[in-house]
Amino acid sequence: MDYRRAARIFSQISGVYDTFLSFATFGRIHSWQREMIEDMGRKGNWLDVGTGTGEVLIKLGEDHRGLKVGLDPAEGMVLSARKKCKGCRFVVGIGESLPFRDGVFSKVSLSLVFRHLEDQGRFLDEARRVLEEGGTLGIIDIGRFRGTGVLLFLMRTLLKPVGLLIFGKDKWDFFIHSVEESYSVDEVRDLLESKGFKVIKVRRRMLGTVFILTARKTA
Ligand SMILES: C[S@@+](CC[C@H](N)C(=O)[O-])C[C@H]1O[C@@H](n2cnc3c(N)ncnc32)[C@H](O)[C@@H]1O
Repeated sequence: MDYRRAARIFSQISGVYDTFLSFATFGRIHSWQREMIEDMGRKGNWLDVGTGTGEVLIKLGEDHRGLKVGLDPAEGMVLSARKKCKGCRFVVGIGESLPFRDGVFSKVSLSLVFRHLEDQGRFLDEARRVLEEGGTLGIIDIGRFRGTGVLLFLMRTLLKPVGLLIFGKDKWDFFIHSVEESYSVDEVRDLLESKGFKVIKVRRRMLGTVFILTARKTA
């Protein structure tokens, strides 16, 4: 997905984003992010790609030992994140071109970002480059599954009036497109393994619509 379009849309909705996300996930986003952090292990320099309002970094806690860095192309999101997380550093940028030296991070996370990336393969090359040997990648996302057709149908019919009311047509079409673009867990696993990662854990949540995946950089 074109990152400029994603950045524009997420910047425009940054003021309502946290409330909307809690509503859309029945508040579960917070426990999924905590589970991802536990699976990845808390130690070391941490990069959260597509950080949005910085919620993953906030959940690492103030006593986290190591850097907490968030990156996002949406300036509006980065502005909100800076207000919310004082002990964190935020950078405007994209996952496909990380402005960091090789091997400086122990952890790279993405919460609800993978399907929005413009080029998943390029991102994985970059994540591998900035991770130290044995470093960990964590991904939370909506996965394509048997019910995706039903979800898309609902978004185009029953949920559409609410979606249009809150977001307008351009943004609602964008969200529909992002669900169409989602990957199945098997596709993500194949891609990761072709890019030098080994998947070590997958949790499925919300009737299998959401996955939380942990992978390790291989030698
Ligand atoms: C659904 S939000 C997720 C925000 C946050 N991680 C969370 O869990 O609440 C997706 C985020 O990905 C960002 N994004 C879109 N394209 C990106 C790219 N190519 N590289 C990095 N982030 C990107 C968007 O700007 C947006 O903030």
